[in-house]
Amino acid sequence: MATALITGPTAGIGRAFADKLALEGYDLVLVARDEARLKEVATEITRLHGVGCEVLAADLTDPEQLAVVEERFRSGPIEVLVNNAGFGQKKPFWANPIELEEKQFDLLVRVVLRLTHAAVLPMIERGSGAVINVSSVAGFFQRGSYSAHKSWVTNFSAGLAIELHAKGVAVMALCPGFVHTEFHERMGMDKTIIPSFMWLDATELVDAAWKDLMQGKSISIPTWRYRLIVAASRYVPRGLIARVSTVGLDGRRRA
Ligand SMILES: NC(=O)c1ccc[n+]([C@@H]2O[C@H](COP(=O)([O-])OP(=O)(O)OC[C@H]3O[C@@H](n4cnc5c(N)ncnc54)[C@H](OP(=O)(O)O)[C@@H]3O)[C@@H](O)[C@H]2O)c1
Repeated sequence: MATALITGPTAGIGRAFADKLALEGYDLVLVARDEARLKEVATEITRLHGVGCEVLAADLTDPEQLAVVEERFRSGPIEVLVNNAGFGQKKPFWANPIELEEKQFDLLVRVVLRLTHAAVLPMIERGSGAVINVSSVAGFFQRGSYSAHKSWVTNFSAGLAIELHAKGVAVMALCPGFVHTEFHERMGMDKTIIPSFMWLDATELVDAAWKDLMQGKSISIPTWRYRLIVAASRYVPRGLIARVSTVGLDGRRRA
């Protein structure tokens, strides 16, 4: 049976990916910090879907713990990598301690870079495999460090997708809009300031993303409304977007 490794599978989008990939018949390697919660999720997924679940408790922003996860790509074949773990911040860049900004940079950029590298080398040798990097529609806008990191994830993934296509390896950036997960609670955001029609369901998002991957897309923006927002943003002056918006695409209020 093929194996998929998912970062951040204990909640939200990562959990939806864990269920989807188990339904598709993959054994799973689950990576997050909270070991007790990882084990609960592993037990539940095995009970629900009958696939094997390995648990790797790691804070991916710690280089030594990240190295253990990278090693997992060498110790046994991983056919699908989902780089999903992430967090947002309520305050703007300049109001956060630089250590917190660095942690976010590490998780959203450095970890994606390193795990993608560890994953694709054996995939290229085998001539098959897929990497899904969870980015954000925020990456299409200029909204502080979070959107800059997500812009990097989308650009990096789309470029790599072109390079690796001929080698049988698929790479896709998934760019969600607002999704009901623990993301906004964890950053202390009041979710009621976002209109209800803007919210997506994690399971539906992941189903749409998986279809896009199967169709060979390198950038997946689930739902027409978010595709329209991204398309329209190309024709609206950047300064105007910055002036009229009071809330960031991942829910951060402008200072
Ligand atoms: N929700 C949205 O509206 C939205 C929109 C666009 C993009 N996204 C992106 O989607 C991805 C998933 O977000 P989500 O909304 O599903 O968030 P979530 O519900 O808060 O889940 C985050 C997951 O990441 C894990 N994680 C956090 N920090 C970690 C670390 N240092 N090392 C290892 N694992 C870590 C968490 O587990 P532990 O706490 O146990 O480590 C948890 O499993 C993120 O990359 C986010 O930027 C979210």
